[in-house]
Amino acid sequence: MTHIFANWKMYLDVVESRVLGETLVDTWKTHDNINCVVFPTPLAAVDVTEICEGTPVSVGAQNVAWVPRGAYTGASSAMLYKNIGCTYALVGHSERRYIFGERNIDVRKKTEACLEQNIIPVICIGESQKDRDNGKEEYRIKKQIMRVFDGLNIGDSKIFVAYEPVWAVGTGIPCDPDEAEKMHIYIKEQIAEFTDVQVPILYGGSVNADNVTGYASSSHIDGMLVGSASVKIEEFSRIIEAVAS
Ligand code: PGA
Repeated sequence: MTHIFANWKMYLDVVESRVLGETLVDTWKTHDNINCVVFPTPLAAVDVTEICEGTPVSVGAQNVAWVPRGAYTGASSAMLYKNIGCTYALVGHSERRYIFGERNIDVRKKTEACLEQNIIPVICIGESQKDRDNGKEEYRIKKQIMRVFDGLNIGDSKIFVAYEPVWAVGTGIPCDPDEAEKMHIYIKEQIAEFTDVQVPILYGGSVNADNVTGYASSSHIDGMLVGSASVKIEEFSRIIEAVAS
């Protein structure tokens, strides 16, 4: 099974999200080996979840609050997303960490909130360019993993990790597939320090229809988290076809 997750970020308005969701499910061919999840903007989450209901495409939140309900202006919790039928959530995306100041402790709390609500967390980790320039990519990854997984009660839940080097996200500079594979092996080793649960690891960062097979062909890369290339239906369909064939 290859996981292809589409992070629509804040690229689309509600109408555009509906059109993309409808086109995706209408044109979906039978791909038993693909698990596809889309992450629409919060405003479109209800509509896209309705459109995808009963289809092979699942829907997730781009971010969640760690408390279920209450006086948290502007926030939407894992519980509220669960109520509308979302089954996944991105947690700790680099744009949340670097633009909105999320810390490892927030990522941990959000992961726990997802697990409590039976939402599958997709925990995003990755080093910055500065980390890499200083030879600290493994240090950064190790710390991010430890802060989320140490003592985490996963139980029977599913959990994903996305390796998204910050310098590759939204830059058009993808990580070399061999380097990504090396990092995935390291990530799996680090996670194994804390849990026996098999955690699929996705690669994300400037994935497109032309480079996707480079990642998909590695047995250590369990799928891809696609940003800008996922909001163009022709390109996203090419990505799915490339991985499915
Ligand atoms: P990108 O984004 O594919 O546009 O680089 C990936 C992501 O943010 O998940």
